[in-house]
Amino acid sequence: GPKDILILAENRGVEWSNDLQWDEKMRLPVAFPTETVYGLGALALDVSATSKIFSTKGRPADNPLIVHVSSFPMLHTLLPQDYVLSDSYTALMKHFWPGALTLLFPSDPNIIPSIITANQPTVAIRMPSHLVARALIAVANAPLAAPSANSSGKPSPTRAEHVLRDLDGKVSLILDGGACGVGLESTVVDGLHSDGAIRVLRPGGITVEDIERVLHEEMSDPPEVLVHRRDYRDEAIEAAPTTPGMKYRHYSPSVPVYLLYTASSPPNGVQPLEAGAFLASLRRFGTGERPVKVGILTPSDSPLGICTLPADGIEWTRFPLGRTAEPSVTAHLLFDGLLTLERQGVDLILIEEVPEEREGLAIMNRVKKAAGECRWIQFNTTDG
Ligand code: TXA
Ligand code: MG
Repeated sequence: GPKDILILAENRGVEWSNDLQWDEKMRLPVAFPTETVYGLGALALDVSATSKIFSTKGRPADNPLIVHVSSFPMLHTLLPQDYVLSDSYTALMKHFWPGALTLLFPSDPNIIPSIITANQPTVAIRMPSHLVARALIAVANAPLAAPSANSSGKPSPTRAEHVLRDLDGKVSLILDGGACGVGLESTVVDGLHSDGAIRVLRPGGITVEDIERVLHEEMSDPPEVLVHRRDYRDEAIEAAPTTPGMKYRHYSPSVPVYLLYTASSPPNGVQPLEAGAFLASLRRFGTGERPVKVGILTPSDSPLGICTLPADGIEWTRFPLGRTAEPSVTAHLLFDGLLTLERQGVDLILIEEVPEEREGLAIMNRVKKAAGECRWIQFNTTDG
């Protein structure tokens, strides 16, 4: 039918139906699970297949795609013949491949179609660890280009049902591998500059702390690790939309999202709002005929997670994101929380800040892009 869903029971591994023509299927975009988020994959070297990825997502043509491989020999078929892996890439691949790390490589225009790279001189490649993703690439016996399996601008899907709700009628096949373990997209790293530094273009599932640790363990003279927008800014990158989420709206559900800072101090000149006053102000979102429905994504032990919520005029739905000390749990649940609250019909979503450490860096990167507005909230210790 138009929306076959293969249920892949975890304990049975991948069950491949013999009547499926996989070489044919892979000319259509197929939604499949990876350890980070669900991807929308098609044969990377087939231009008409990859162009369907762009049309299915409504993705701007100037945003390049990540190519997914299932083996090192497959990786090498994509690289320029004279290309030699750097020591830092060797160390990073040894520790994080297969997994949530995407590396930029020089792109040979005779190998990689320009639709993949959006005419960049580099191509982004990763080797996923998810059993189903690896099996799919291996069965296709070819690299797959795959962005996240969402309409452009929406939160990335971490469950098959998220894909179905977003792209129903637009994809012919969704492979259901259950919830993605990491829950955030891969970390995109550029180690191709002549200064040898490792530039993190998009924070993601592999943390900056782990990248630094591995480079220090493996190398006598480890390179610097620079995080875009924190340690450096690249005007050229920011002017062109060719790097992670610089120009386009991202990760946004259809309802307003507010980012609440409850621990950080506000920028100069911004007065923090008293918690009670802010919560009361939410009633303005109501129509008067029914209570305003407010979804909150918050760690369970944070100021907002433990505060008593006023019951009159507001219907609350709390979606707990794990404890503050467990940012990997928050990462795992963030997109699911946004998409679940949206489906439950809330009028707006509040997300509370988390510390920008470990997965928290990638979490806040996504949350800042999802949020239309920010508020700084002051909790009095007497508020309870
Ligand atoms: O975890 C992931 O990376 C998921 C799963 C499906 O693998 N994929 C994913 O793809 O997040 P996508 O298209 O949603 O995000 C790819 C990001 C974009 O921000 C894009 O700008 C960047 O990688 N990118 C791709 N090629 C690039 C290149 N040559 N130079 C710089 N950035 C690149
Ligand atoms: Mg995406």
